[in-house]
Amino acid sequence: MLLEWIKQKSYINGQWLDAADRSVFSVHNPFNQELIGNVPNLGAVETLQAVDAAHVAFEDWSKQTASYRSNLLRKWYDLQITHADELAHLLTLEQGKPLKEAKGEILYGASFVEWFAEEAKRTYGDVIPSPSADKRIITLKQPIGIVAAITPWNFPNAMITRKVAPALAAGCTVVLKPSEETPLSALALAALAEQAGIPAGVFNVITTNQASLVGRVLSSHPLVKKLSFTGSTAVGKLLLQQCASTVKKVSLELGGNAPFIVFDDADIDLAVEGAIASKYRNAGQTCVCANRIFVQAKVHDAFVERLSDAMKQQKLGNGLEEGVTIGPLINEKAMQKVERLMADALDKGARVLIGGKRHEQFNNFYEPTVLTHATPKMSISEEEIFGPVAAIYTFQTEQEVTALANTTPYGLAAYFYSRDISRVWRVAEALEYGIIGINTGLISTPVAPFGGMKESGIGREGSKYGIEEYLEIKYLCLGI
Ligand code: SIN
Repeated sequence: MLLEWIKQKSYINGQWLDAADRSVFSVHNPFNQELIGNVPNLGAVETLQAVDAAHVAFEDWSKQTASYRSNLLRKWYDLQITHADELAHLLTLEQGKPLKEAKGEILYGASFVEWFAEEAKRTYGDVIPSPSADKRIITLKQPIGIVAAITPWNFPNAMITRKVAPALAAGCTVVLKPSEETPLSALALAALAEQAGIPAGVFNVITTNQASLVGRVLSSHPLVKKLSFTGSTAVGKLLLQQCASTVKKVSLELGGNAPFIVFDDADIDLAVEGAIASKYRNAGQTCVCANRIFVQAKVHDAFVERLSDAMKQQKLGNGLEEGVTIGPLINEKAMQKVERLMADALDKGARVLIGGKRHEQFNNFYEPTVLTHATPKMSISEEEIFGPVAAIYTFQTEQEVTALANTTPYGLAAYFYSRDISRVWRVAEALEYGIIGINTGLISTPVAPFGGMKESGIGREGSKYGIEEYLEIKYLCLGI
């Protein structure tokens, strides 16, 4: 079942188009592998066409007033709210996450559009006291230009709005390449942008399963001034290299390896609740999911027992069914990665408390798993699991766990639980992460800066900082 206003065509220059050679690729439901739709498989020619359209549209869009752009973004937001249930249904169909979670993502995604509709009006410059009497010093903020946005399948809606809304608010135009696993949610957003009256060429969507080809065109095109990417660190590094030849500005939101630390002074029930929220959101497939759960020795057994009990309450299945809390992994490749990490961990001495294998009844489902006796020598401690496996480590001291938590090239999100206020400050300052959840497992909101340190990325999305990623500061020196 596909909603009739959701097109199965690419969106370039305000037109709904097929690929020049008419080729398509299929989109399947990860729960039961049913065909949901077919979308055009675009290549270099159409990508260049989209960049040209964005270039032409930039001329007018960038010169409009902030309140003009703000009003159109607000209309786009209103339409997303009006159609939230349909968008959530579509998202569950193509991505698999439970409907309640999908609805949460639609509202989260829309909140970036609302936020940046407001921020559009606040891109202030400065008047700087001049060191000489015959000069005045002023700064202006101006849109960077054409933005290429490349987005992942784990949040098929919100990762788009988190990039596109600030870009459009700033006066930039956008060429978006969504994941080939979940292009329909992107096309639904484009259909609503068209209904909202966002002019032709301002927001373009390239559907393709030739990600590296289209990525190369976008990251090397001289007219594209900025690339914003959410995805793996490996692909982010490649795009960064490709952007170097034209010195593009980049925002990269890459992989994580989040530590989740439970100190012995923590509220254990709260920590279990936070661990479930962080670890099992989207079946463990987020960049900010707890990846390594460190529990201080004194509270280890109590925490593990309560976590296992809470895990047994989870219901796997079709995300469209009432009461389902965990959906499928996105595909067989994701499943094989979880299986590889589990095999390595078990080989090196980890023990399975619950779960530990593929689900027998459903394809693409890994059983929610609690694994104890994890150690830093295991691959599971170095790689993002991206599956519903809670790997538990024990530690003795604050110093030891802070060092362990920081022993990774990643630095996106970290979490810890403690009721000691001095410790809260010490640990928050010592952790080398861009986002720290303290006594909470849920940190995502449009009002706060989202982004990582070290190899987890460059730049921040959301918040008052998010729009800066799409603006240039120009300094005017006026002789009088
Ligand atoms: C991500 O996993 O990349 C984003 C998660 C979020 O925004 O909460």
